[in-house]
Amino acid sequence: MSQSEGNIESVLHEDRLFDPPASAGAPWHIGSLDEYKALYKKSIDDPESFWSNAAEEMHWFSHWRQVVSYEAPDAKWFVNGTTNLCYNCVDRHVENGFGDQVGIIWESEPIGDEGPEILRLTYADLQTEISKFANVLLDKGVRRGDVVTIYMGMIPELAIAVLACARIGAAHSVIFGGFSSQAIADRVEDANSKVIVTCDGSWRRGSVVPLKDNVDQALEILGEGKVRSVIVRQRCKNGIDWVDGRDTWWHDVMQEAEADCDCVPLDSEEMSFLLYTSGSTGKPKGIHHTIGGYMVYTATTSKYVFNLVPDADQVFWCTADVGWITGHSYILYGIMPNRVPTLMYEGAPNFPDADRFWDIVSRHRVTQFYTAPTAIRAFMKWGEEHPKKHDLSSLQVLGTVGEPINPEAWMWYHNVIGGGACPIVDTYWQTETGGHMITPLPGATSTKPGSCTLPFFGIDAAVVDADGNEVGANEGGLLVVRKPWPGMLRGVYGDRDRFIDTYWSTIKIDSKPVYTAGDGARRDKDGYFWIMGRIDDVINVSGHRLGTMEVESGLVAHESVVEAAVVGMPHEIKGTGIAAFCTLAPGYEANDDLRKKLREHISDQIGAIAKPDMIRFTDALPKTRSGKIMRRLLRSIAAGEVEVNQDTSTLEDFTVVAKLQGGDES
Ligand code: PRX
Repeated sequence: MSQSEGNIESVLHEDRLFDPPASAGAPWHIGSLDEYKALYKKSIDDPESFWSNAAEEMHWFSHWRQVVSYEAPDAKWFVNGTTNLCYNCVDRHVENGFGDQVGIIWESEPIGDEGPEILRLTYADLQTEISKFANVLLDKGVRRGDVVTIYMGMIPELAIAVLACARIGAAHSVIFGGFSSQAIADRVEDANSKVIVTCDGSWRRGSVVPLKDNVDQALEILGEGKVRSVIVRQRCKNGIDWVDGRDTWWHDVMQEAEADCDCVPLDSEEMSFLLYTSGSTGKPKGIHHTIGGYMVYTATTSKYVFNLVPDADQVFWCTADVGWITGHSYILYGIMPNRVPTLMYEGAPNFPDADRFWDIVSRHRVTQFYTAPTAIRAFMKWGEEHPKKHDLSSLQVLGTVGEPINPEAWMWYHNVIGGGACPIVDTYWQTETGGHMITPLPGATSTKPGSCTLPFFGIDAAVVDADGNEVGANEGGLLVVRKPWPGMLRGVYGDRDRFIDTYWSTIKIDSKPVYTAGDGARRDKDGYFWIMGRIDDVINVSGHRLGTMEVESGLVAHESVVEAAVVGMPHEIKGTGIAAFCTLAPGYEANDDLRKKLREHISDQIGAIAKPDMIRFTDALPKTRSGKIMRRLLRSIAAGEVEVNQDTSTLEDFTVVAKLQGGDES
């Protein structure tokens, strides 16, 4: 099933409407559709007043002079205001007398004789640890505006490192622990990062991922002197190499660090972080986010979409890794200002058994649970006996993110995990948007399996044709956002042209560029949005974004491959899998051994998430007369819709296949 077909299937479910249930915990912030609609209208008609009210809930060292200034594509939010993300996540709660409340609950992957290791860090604990690490960073020469690279496993020190950067006004670039040394090298170089924080290793499904080794190799690729300092948190006690003068143990420097380090008042528009994400061309781009707008946007979406209420016995759990935007916004920055404990789990969902997540939900009495469709499909496959073993009655809101959710997975989530009683918030958004864009509100929006429903406050989302005109009900078009919002990206790091080309060049309305998300969508007769998938050469594998060109470049970098084309293919668990078609250099034999080598090669070049699920060797790639690869045809072949000789490893005579398909593709 392809993403667009997923939506054809969804049409069948369109009339299934699930009304929001009465709240099982704290009252809903927004309790009816009328209330949502009234506030939505206000937020669009008068965004200044809506967003200044939201921003007033945060701490500012000095008040902004203007809520927003916008000349597409450049937006500034809370202009001249000064604030600090770390202060709003941590210190503010201590100042207000909540220092002994738990801010982060952490659970280890390994399970010892006495069960997993569990840490409950209070806001006061966090303030101390973050201040100490902020002093370590300062001592290593990190200054306001510098970019610190963080490549760690899901341990509390990752949150501490991130928030320590925020405290002193250094930007962070967190790299997901599944990325390879080449990917680290590319990102460190692009960000010109001089300090890296890492771990010796991280636990994943009972094995050690050698993070420090990967950093060492990345620094070898970059050459000596590029990176000044590597700070290493010991976690797995796996043996590592050591470079004197460059490498420092976390525990050594923390022992000596002072616990006193004030949060620096930072301009609302200073850079908070870079997060690298794939695009349709070239290397991953550094998405540039700021402080004030991002903070207000993530905290406000967290509050309404997950119905966060302090002192209401809530425990929020987002299963993403902090290495992705979902973890940035909805493990840390959006959740913590709401003073609800956020749970961080170190490892895999099926370690030691397939019920680990449900065990965690029941033991910690998780109230809001946020995961990806790909995980839900895996849970379905593993069987409902696993969740059934546990008491999931604490759950109040279920969330999903990252890719379109197929209605079967939605129904399973609703019935088996939510016991039919929890609203599902299918949140559509992107690394670039900072936070949720189109999403139900749990107490207000009736849901339809497979639809992300209606826009969040202040989001002027529309589905348009190539001229920027809104299309009719159920007609497909491009998803655009016509007004600025506080969490929007401010640029692609070091590449203004790419920023404009990617997001602001496709659609103009009244001769002004509007933000184009890169997704196809339609709205049904009720105005509900249905995302139909990417319209560019980006594929969404297990909810993670990958550029097909990135994988292609990786393949041709191998000596055996002359030319490669990569397309998405239906995948039962991942949603979209990766299909690669390769033409081999003379002297190389098309066989399983080479397939294996190429998969390993991609894992080294990018990371395990980019390993092709299928590699087919071919004498030539099908091309149009103008030399463009016929991707649509390759997608059909990968999906098994076009018959080719399955018994050989060679795709023969593409012209014939192309003729069968009705000729050239433009
Ligand atoms: O195609 C959309 C899909 O994921 C893309 C964004 O990927 P990324 O920046 O990695 O962020 C993922 C987590 C926010 C989008 O362009 N996508 C994300 N959420 C949904 C979705 N597609 C359908 N439904 C969603 N809820």
